[in-house]
Parts: sequence; C-alpha cells; structure tokens
Amino acid sequence: MANTNTDESSWFYKKRDAPVEARVKDLLTRMTLPEKIGQMTQIERSVGSPQVITNSFIGSVQSGGGSWPFEDAKSSDWADMIDGFQRSALASRLGIPIIYGTDAVHGNNNVYGATVFPHNIGLGATRDADLVRRIGAATALEVRASGVHWTYAPCVAVLGDPRWGRCYESYGEAARIVCEMSSLISGLQGEPPEEHPNGYPFIAGRNNVVACAKHFVGDGGTDKGLSEGNTIASYEELEKIHVAPYLNCIAQGVSTVMASFSSWNGSRLHSDYFLLTEVLKQKLCFKGFLVSDWDGLETISEPEGSDYRSCVKLGINAGIDIVMVPFKYEQFIQDMTELVESGEIPMARVDDAVERILRVKFVAGLFEHPLADRSLLGTVGCKEHREVAREAVRKSLLLLKNGTNPDAPFLPLDRNAKRILVVGMHANDIGNQCGGWTKNKSGQKAAESQLVGTTLLDAIKATVGDKTEVIYEETPTKETLASSEGFSYAIVAVGEPPYAEMKGDNSELTIPFNGNNIITAVAEKTPTLVILFSGRPMVLEPTVLEKTEALVAAWFPGTEGQGIADVIFGDYDFQGKLPVSWFKRVDQLPLNADADSYDPLFPLGFGLTCNLGQNL
Ligand code: GLC
Repeated sequence: MANTNTDESSWFYKKRDAPVEARVKDLLTRMTLPEKIGQMTQIERSVGSPQVITNSFIGSVQSGGGSWPFEDAKSSDWADMIDGFQRSALASRLGIPIIYGTDAVHGNNNVYGATVFPHNIGLGATRDADLVRRIGAATALEVRASGVHWTYAPCVAVLGDPRWGRCYESYGEAARIVCEMSSLISGLQGEPPEEHPNGYPFIAGRNNVVACAKHFVGDGGTDKGLSEGNTIASYEELEKIHVAPYLNCIAQGVSTVMASFSSWNGSRLHSDYFLLTEVLKQKLCFKGFLVSDWDGLETISEPEGSDYRSCVKLGINAGIDIVMVPFKYEQFIQDMTELVESGEIPMARVDDAVERILRVKFVAGLFEHPLADRSLLGTVGCKEHREVAREAVRKSLLLLKNGTNPDAPFLPLDRNAKRILVVGMHANDIGNQCGGWTKNKSGQKAAESQLVGTTLLDAIKATVGDKTEVIYEETPTKETLASSEGFSYAIVAVGEPPYAEMKGDNSELTIPFNGNNIITAVAEKTPTLVILFSGRPMVLEPTVLEKTEALVAAWFPGTEGQGIADVIFGDYDFQGKLPVSWFKRVDQLPLNADADSYDPLFPLGFGLTCNLGQNL
C-alpha cells in the first residue's frame, strides 16, 4: 500500500543530497498504481495538456519529428512550451517531473536557428571520435537551451545494406567505427569518472542531456535493408556486429536505450525478452531505462494481428520500461491497469520499470532543476558551434576522384578563375543540404525551412576572388552551356532529397532528379567537379565517372556549407575515409568488407587527398 504521508517536508526523496538509490526506493513506496503506470507513459506534445499530465501522472512528453510549438519556433518558444508541461507535472501529488524527449540527431535539428551538423554517415567518414564528442557537447547545450531533457541519439546501427532508408543515420558498416563514434554519448551526457559503475546512467550536469542508444538491436542488419525488417543472424553474429556498440554506450553511462522496430530471426524486438532483458539488462548490466519506439508495441501485433492489450502485455513483460505510445494514452493506461490488477503483468516488473525511470530522472537532476535554463539560449547556433560543424563538414568529405592524370590533379580548384558555373538542386538549398530529421522528419526545402546556415553556393561566392564570375543555375540551360565565353570549370551539386525511415528505402540507388544527365550535359562542355549529396553510396554510371574530372561525396553536411569550400579550394586537405563500401552495381548488395567475394568500386576506408593523391 502506498505511503500517503502528506507531510511533504519529511518526504525523503526530495532531499537532493540523499543517495539516488535511496531516493528512488523512498519515492517508489509512496506511489500508487496509477502514478506508477503514468511514469511508464510517454505522450506526444500534441495530445499533452495540463489536465492530462496532472491527472494521468504522465512521466514523459515528446516531440515526434517536426512536432514544434509552431513553425519556426525558437528555442525560447520550445522552453515556454516544455516548462508549461513541466509545471503541470510538478502540480501532481508527488511532483515527479516529466522528461521531455526529441530527435536531436544531428544538432537540435527541429529548432529554428540551431546548428545542424553532418549526419552520422559523414561523421563516420571522419573517424574522429573526439570531434563527435565535441558535437555531442555542443548539441547538449542547444537542446537544454530549448528546455528539452532527452535526445533520441546516437543511432548506433551497424550498416548492413545501403538500400536501408536510415543508412545516413549509421556511422558505418564496421562495428569498430560505430563503437568509436558512440563517443557522442560522452559529449551529450558528459564523461563519467573512471570509478563510475558500469551500466549505471550518468549525466554530468545542467549543460548535459540524457542520451539514447538506438535501436536495440540489429536495426541496421535487416534483410535487403528493409526498414523495420528482419535481421537473420546467429546470436554470435548478432552479438559480434550489432550488440557490440552497446557495450561502448553502456560503458559511457548511456541513460536510455530505444528498442528497434525490426525483428531478429522473425522475433519482434519489442517483445523479445531474451534480448531486451536477459542480454541488455542482465548480461550487459544496463541500469537505465528502455523506451519503445514510436507506437512500437503495435509492431508486436504483426502478423499475428493480436489486440493492443496483448501487445502491451508482451512488450512490458519483455522489458520495455517507458512506452512511446504516443497518442492513445488512455487505452494504454487502461490496458496496463487491467493487466497489472489481473497479475498478467507482475507488480515487480512495474516496479523495476519505474525504478529505472526515476533513477534516470534523479541522475539527470530533473527534481532539482525541472525547468529550462534560459542562460543557455546564447549557445543556440553560436559561432563556436558552427565552427565545430564546419570542421566536421571538412573532415567528412570524401575525395573519390581527382583528375585523370596523377600528375595533374583537378583539385584544389583555382579560386581566382575567370568564370565558373555552379549547378544542381543541392547547390543553393540548405534543406537539401541537411537531409532528413531537419525541421521535420523528412526535412524541408530551403524555401519553407529557413534554416540558418550557409549553402554551398554562398560558400563558393564567399571564397572565390573578387574578379571571379560565378554563374548559378539550378538546372543548366542549353544557352548557358553553349555560351561562347565558356567556363574555367563547373561544380555540379546533385544527389538525394531529404527523407527518413522507410521513405528512404530504395533498391535502385541511382542519382535522382536527372542527376546523371545534368552531370553529363555539363561535363561535355567544361571540366567538372561533381559533389554528391546523399545518405549513402549511389550508382555512379561509368560514363559519368569517366567524363567528370573530380568526384566528392559530401553526404548530408548540415548548415555549414563553408566547410565544403574550405576543402575544394584548398584551405584544407581531404581526410575522409569511406565508412561504407561503395558498390559498382546494386545487384552486388549487400556488400561488406568482411565478405568473401568483395569487389567494390571503392573499398571501405578508401579516400584520396589533394596533395598526396594517395589512398589514406
Ligand atoms: C521514429 C524512429 C526513432 C525516433 C522515434 C521518435 O519512428 O524510429 O528513431 O527516435 O520515432 O521520433
């Protein structure tokens, strides 16, 4: 029976200097079943209201991709919204603060004015764990400035097949690269001291944010790269490839893990007790909390078609602690209540989940500092962060071809050339430059997104000499290409539009929007550098490759396009190394470096430099 002592001053869990575990235990004894179930319930902000949060004891609120307070809301507007939700939670009987979560996966990418960093595939190309840690630290400041406590990052998927729509969310195809780049967690949460107990959540302070390693486990290894598909592997293979990064995440004190939509040998992850509880919580000693993915319990119903109540029972008993419902919270709370009262979900399982949730909230300092720290607002999109992002862009660029004669490299470009042509849909569109999970899930074109940053065209114009004439056409006209004046060289910026999740699943992987024809039309008239903006390797027509002088993979670089100009004009050299094998044809897929028959166009680890022209 809950301890209903109403003398708040004696409530031990409110004592900030008391040991976390003692506070957790004290608070748990005071909680009623509705209060416990409320803590396990995460709702989307669009269904959040003071009444719902207070009366249902809601433990977490979130923004799905692109769910802002309003279009182009600034960090202070986000903080106002979240503090409003928080005050409703603090008004409940026990005053347990909510934890607010969002997908800040390459900077605080939903928020107007935020610094947007390169997506993970580009960071994998840098092989620079310290840089990724610094990106985490910068992201944490901008996230906390907006009042958000928790980001669903990093995605530590080990990439099996670039046909996967979430390829760009992975740091690469080799587990060792993903393990190294999980250093984002130490940036987001702060670095735990040597003596920090393995598996225990760690948050250094108010300038840090709760991280989330996702999606446990095997999300990047599904058959044919299908989003939410099936990973076919022995447990030994699964552990060696896909579980491995979680060891690094847990060693850094990652506070939360998100379950994967995918399946393992036909078993849905969201109801897999062996993986969620026996492996993650017991074998790996994870002491934070496990959150479902978006409406993830519904995946359990496929293909059996079982009702939602059965999905709740299976998911919670398998080890899910917080359910990202995110809309039908009444149904979830009702089913949970019935399932616990009937004994189909043991109270011990509920208590374990709530203990983990409270532990993270105490460790994160939410009881002491539940509201946004507005003193951090000055960090949003600040020069220092943009410089880190610009450095990341420079280091992520991959030089795949540099001239046809090793003694006559095409790059670096002459910044004092007489007249240059810039074409392509990625040359002057910051939305395309940032890719998915920016402003909203599938990203937005510059016109609507009004992201603050520098397009490639802006950067080129800021770098070339005063006497250099820059001609820009998104789609080059015949007249321009035939102009008698001609051009010293052309820069063609083509590639993929923003996309996310299964919208990005693609079995063809050809450069869309007529990219190859634009390249060919320009390359036939003038020496051409192609800059490919994409979330993954794409088919490079042999003729296209032969006709162009140079080829750079820029991935999805984010807001700081100046980083590209820094390198193509020679202020910095290329250093990127392929984090993923570059296939010749899609019928080779999946194509991984550890395969017996490995015949890539460019192998894992490949990367040219301007000066040396050698493979790094
Ligand atoms: C999505 C994604 C997950 C994301 C979550 C919340 O479906 O699978 O990566 O964090 O929903 O937006």
